[in-house]
Formats: sequence, structure tokens, C-alpha cells
Amino acid sequence: MTAAPYGWMRRRRRRHGDVFSSNFPYYGRVVYVADPAVVKHIFTADPTIFHAGEANTLALGDVLGDHSLLTLDEERHLSQRKLLLPPFHGESVRRYAEVMAEATAREVARWPLHRVFPIRPRMQAITLEVILRAVFGVREGERMDRYREWIPRLADASSIVNWLPFMRGELGGISPAARFRRALGEVNSLIYAQIRDRRDSGEAEERDDVLSLLLRARHEDGSPMTDSELRDELLTLLTAGHETTATGLSWAFERLLRTPRVLARLVESLDDDEYLEAVVKETLRVRPVVVDVARKLTRETEIAGYRLPKGTIVLPAIAVIHARPDLYPAPREFRPERFLDGGAESYAWIPFGGGVRRCIGASFAQVEMKVVLREVLRRVRLRAASRRPERPRTQHVTVVPSRGARVVVEERLAEPAAREPAAVGVT
Ligand code: HEM
Repeated sequence: MTAAPYGWMRRRRRRHGDVFSSNFPYYGRVVYVADPAVVKHIFTADPTIFHAGEANTLALGDVLGDHSLLTLDEERHLSQRKLLLPPFHGESVRRYAEVMAEATAREVARWPLHRVFPIRPRMQAITLEVILRAVFGVREGERMDRYREWIPRLADASSIVNWLPFMRGELGGISPAARFRRALGEVNSLIYAQIRDRRDSGEAEERDDVLSLLLRARHEDGSPMTDSELRDELLTLLTAGHETTATGLSWAFERLLRTPRVLARLVESLDDDEYLEAVVKETLRVRPVVVDVARKLTRETEIAGYRLPKGTIVLPAIAVIHARPDLYPAPREFRPERFLDGGAESYAWIPFGGGVRRCIGASFAQVEMKVVLREVLRRVRLRAASRRPERPRTQHVTVVPSRGARVVVEERLAEPAAREPAAVGVT
């Protein structure tokens, strides 16, 4: 499953049908669902029976704290979600398009000409910059370099620690777990200092980064969010929003550079928001960043005619649904046109999960992918380093291109600064 996640899952569906189970060390028997009608039932069912928070905790551990939107369930999840939703509402994220375009322009200006390099780390640098500026509201000079140093270290160390629970022991300060704790300690103190400064300066009233908006938000009883709530949610947004969007972007380049017809049409119509949006949607269909989402049953429940015991992990199988030929003819082809008129039914396109747990960053991520793609393609002519497609491989909780989507900059294009920034639509 790690070496070929999409293929593994699709083979199991071919052999066993739309509902199939698998035994995993540590997780036990899990049940995958690849039928959109059943997925709709799971996403819209009673969230007191289908616990996403508990299931996410199994994969993520307790690092995100007691208030994280990702790991809470029921009432407490809903109350945090109400506070976090407004800054991520479709129209609100449009204000961050400029930050996204600037981060891209600065990054592309540093790329070498005629040399092979993997584009994924470059996309990670952009999406990290965007989260730090748009979500945390960090300004240049103000701890920016320390964030840039410690967040990648945290991400590197967390892969082993989170995936292999027996690695969570400390082993006298030299183990991955110890390195992880050290990086987490550094990032925590940066975040707490950020919150304290913003609160003390009174600037939260007039700024529009997500942290400032959360400092102005109120619980139903009128109380503000505490520092530990704010820390947990900032770390959650960073964890959920940085690598995922960078990976989606890497796949967009990997696919575009191997599908000349689509690349040519996109380059010709960069100001056409509709085609750009279709390219993003098709990328997330054909190369979903996350292959499945999880719910843990709090009691015995019937799903698609099977009685599943309490404690079962049920997983809508994103990667399989997106590859069904009855929903997407010629499913392996990268063909954005399929999203131009109307697109897919809502439970057939689920890269962001669904229901009360649907990704709150879905609009943010899609706007960011559109802005970055447009700004890169306006500035440079790229080609893939090799014609061979890159294999999907599991890394952390995402599926990444096996060689980091290696590219070559063939040419820098005429300075696009004179152009008016085109509008980005929000879905
Ligand atoms: C292409 C980029 C992204 C992908 C593919 C993605 C995918 C997902 C998925 C599959 C889920 C689980 C949904 C479920 O359980 O039904 C999720 C949840 C979440 N995502 Fe994203 N995400 C992306 C970007 C972002 C961004 C940019 C942010 C914020 C800055 C973000 C914040 C979150 C949060 C907070 C949750 C938890 C929601 C809840 O449990 O209520 N994500 N995401």
C-alpha cells in the first residue's frame, strides 16, 4: 500500500466489490467503501456514531492538542468548527490571493535555468510561506526565519513517529521521537509568542490574517478563544494545509507536463478561470492527495447490508471512487474538460472528504492551486525531466510523486508585471 497506494486499493475493489475490508497492524480490520451512494450515507450520518476525530487521532497521535478540529468529535468539534469556518469561507479566502501570487513570484525568480530539480520542495516553500503570512499573519523579520527552519524539521521527524506508534519512545534524546519533541517545542514557543504579541499589540482588530480573525471570534457564551485553543488550531491548519496543497500542486505540474494538449490549452487561456479550475479539479481527481478518510464507529452499525461491530474503522475510498469508469470514462486520462460542463456528482468527487468533517481549507487550497499554477506558467516555460510518469508513493498521510515531480526551466518568459492580476473564482 505504501509503494503503490492507488493500485493496491483499486485491485482490492476489482477483486471484492464496492465494500471490502483489510487487516492492518495496529489499526485492525478496516472497511473501505467505494460506492458514492454509501459514501453519501456515511458523510451525512449521525456524527455521534461516525467519529472522525477518534479515527484521526489513531493516525496523528495527540500532537495537535486537546482542541484540534481534526481530532475532536461531536459537540466540541462543532463548536471549534463554527469558530474556524468564517475565515475559510469561499469569499473570505479571495483576499489571500495576492499573498499567494507574491510568494510564487519570489520563489520562481530563484529557480535555475536548464537544470533538473524536483518541484515539490519548491511548492512546499510556497505553501509554507502562504500559511505563515495568510493564516499566522507573520511578517518578514518577525520570526519568519525561525519558522522556516523549524517547521520542515517538524514535518520530517513526524513522518516516522506518526506512522509507527512503537517509534514514539524517547530512547534518551536520539530517537526520531526525541527529535520530533524538540522541533515541536520550538514551533510551539514560536506560535505562543505570535499569539501573545498579536493580542498585546491590539493589532488583531484591524488585520485580516486568520489568527487575527480568530482572536476576534467568540464562543457561543461570548468568551474568546484561549491561547491553547489558538495554538492547537494554528498547528492543525499548518499540519492539514501545507503539505497537502504543495502535493496537489506537484501533481498538477507532473500531469500537465506530460499532457501537452492540456498544458497548451491552459497556457493559452491562463486568464480563463473556468479552465484553470477544471485543471485543479481533474488533478485532485486523478491524483488525490489523500487516498481515503476515516470514521470510527461508536456502536454496531449496518452499512451497505453488512453489520459492522463497534470500533470498526470505515473509510470512504477516495482513490477508488475517482477511478470508476462508470463515473469517469477513461479514468486514467488527464482530461480537465470533464469538469467544464457541470462536473461530477458531489459524492463522486471527494478529494476533501465530506459532511460536517469536509476540509475547511477546500476553497483556500483550490484558490492557492489556481494562483500558483497561473503565476508559475506566466513566468517560466517548464518541461518534465523525463517522459516517464512519476509513480504515486505514500509519504506521511499524503500520496506524492515518487521523484518529487522533477522539472527543468527551459526559458524565462517576458516579465508579466504589467498585466492586471486576473480574478480568481471561488467554489
Ligand atoms: C489540496 C489540499 C488539501 C487536501 C487534498 C485536503 C484534504 C482534506 C481531507 C481529505 C480532510 C478530511 C475530511 C473528512 O474527514 O471528511 C481534510 C480535513 C481538514 N483540512 Fe484539508 N485538505 C487540503 C488543504 C487544506 C488547507 C489549505 C487547510 C487549511 C489551511 C486545511 C485544513 C483542514 C482541516 C482543519 C481539516 C479538519 C476538518 C474537520 O475535521 O472538521 N486543509 N482535508
